[in-house]
Amino acid sequence: MSRKDIDEVTGVETTGHEWDGIKELNKPLPRWWLWTFYASILWSIGYWVLYPAWPTLAGYTKGTLGYSQRATVAEEVAAARAAQGRFREALGATPLEQVKDNPELLRFAMAGGAAAFGTNCAPCHGRGAQGFPGYPNLNDDDWLWGGGIADIHQTVRFGIRSGHGESRDSQMPRYGLDKLLDEKQVADAAEFVLSLSNQGTDEAAQARGKETFAEQCAACHGEAGTGNAELGAPDLTDAIWLYGGTRAAVIDSIRTGRGGQMPLWEGRLDPVTIKSLAVYVHSLGGGQ
Ligand code: HEC
Ligand code: HEC
Repeated sequence: MSRKDIDEVTGVETTGHEWDGIKELNKPLPRWWLWTFYASILWSIGYWVLYPAWPTLAGYTKGTLGYSQRATVAEEVAAARAAQGRFREALGATPLEQVKDNPELLRFAMAGGAAAFGTNCAPCHGRGAQGFPGYPNLNDDDWLWGGGIADIHQTVRFGIRSGHGESRDSQMPRYGLDKLLDEKQVADAAEFVLSLSNQGTDEAAQARGKETFAEQCAACHGEAGTGNAELGAPDLTDAIWLYGGTRAAVIDSIRTGRGGQMPLWEGRLDPVTIKSLAVYVHSLGGGQ
C-alpha cells in the first residue's frame, strides 16, 4: 500500500511511491507540454476531417479536401506523357542522320534508347553493351554489319538471320561438318587466320592455309582477311574476335561456320523506340 504525504523540504505532496527511501513528488506536467499535447489533438481532428484518414470496412474515410496521392501521380504521368508525345512526334519525323543536330531531340533519343537497351538488348549484349562470346561488343569500332547509323538501324529493325525477308543474312559454309575441307586443311586454314593477327607458329602450315584461304575464304573475308560488312564477315586481322581467338575457337569457327542470330525488333518495338536504339548504339563509341 502507498501512503501520500507532504515532502518536508519542498512542501509538495508526494505520489506515495517510494524506492529505498527516495519519494516521488507529485508535480504537475509542464504547461508548454500540456498545450502542445492539446494542440496536436486538435490538429489531428482537423486532419481526419480534411484528409484521407481512417480505414473502414469498404475502404477509408476520404476527407473533405478529396486529396489522393494516386490522383496526383496519375496527373503527373499524364503530363509527362504529353511532354514526351511532342518529342516522340518530332523524333519520328526527323531523318535518322539529323537527330544528332538537335540537342534536345538527341537527349530524348539517348534516354529512350538507353532504357530500351537495358530492357531488350542487355540480356544478350550485356548491360554496358560489352558483349559476350558470340554476342558482339557494340562499344568498339569493329562492326560485322556496318557501324553507320543507318546500318545499325537496319540491323536492329530486321535482325540477323532472323528469317525476315529483309534480315541481314549470309552463311559461312560449315567446312568441317559438311566435309568441304578435311581436318588437316581446317587446321592449316586456322593457322593462316591466326597468323593474320600475329599469332601463327607454323610457317609451312600457314603457307598451305594461305592457299586454302585464297580459294575458299577470300570471297567473303577479303583477300587480306579484313572482312566485308555486306556479308557480315568479320575482319580476321584485328585481334577482335566474336567467338574467340584461341586456336581451338578458330578451328571451331571454320568447322561449324557459326551463323549467329539476332531477333528482329520491327513489330515488337515501335518505330520511334527502334530509332532511339539506333541513335543510342551509334553513340556508344564505335559509330561510323
Ligand atoms: C537473343 C540475343 C540478342 C538480343 C536480344 C539482341 N541481340 Fe543484337 N546481336 C545478337 C547476335 C548473336 C549478334 C551477332 C549476329 C552475327 O553473328 O552476325 C547481334 C548483333 C547486333 C548488332 C550488329 C553488330 C555488328 O557488329 O554489326 C547490333 C547493332 C545489335 N545486335 C544491336 C542490338 C540491339 C539494339 C538489341 C536490342 C533491341 C539487340 N541487339 C538485341 C544477339 C542479340
Ligand atoms: C560465305 C561467306 C564466308 C566464307 C566463304 C567464309 N566465311 Fe568465315 N565468316 C563468315 C561470316 C558471315 C562470319 C560471322 C559468323 C557469325 O557472325 O556468326 C564468319 C566468321 C568467321 C570466323 C570467326 C571470327 C570471329 O571473330 O570469331 C572465322 C575464324 C572465319 N570466319 C574463318 C573463315 C575461314 C578460314 C574461311 C575459309 C575456309 C571462311 N571463314 C569462309 C563468312 C564467310
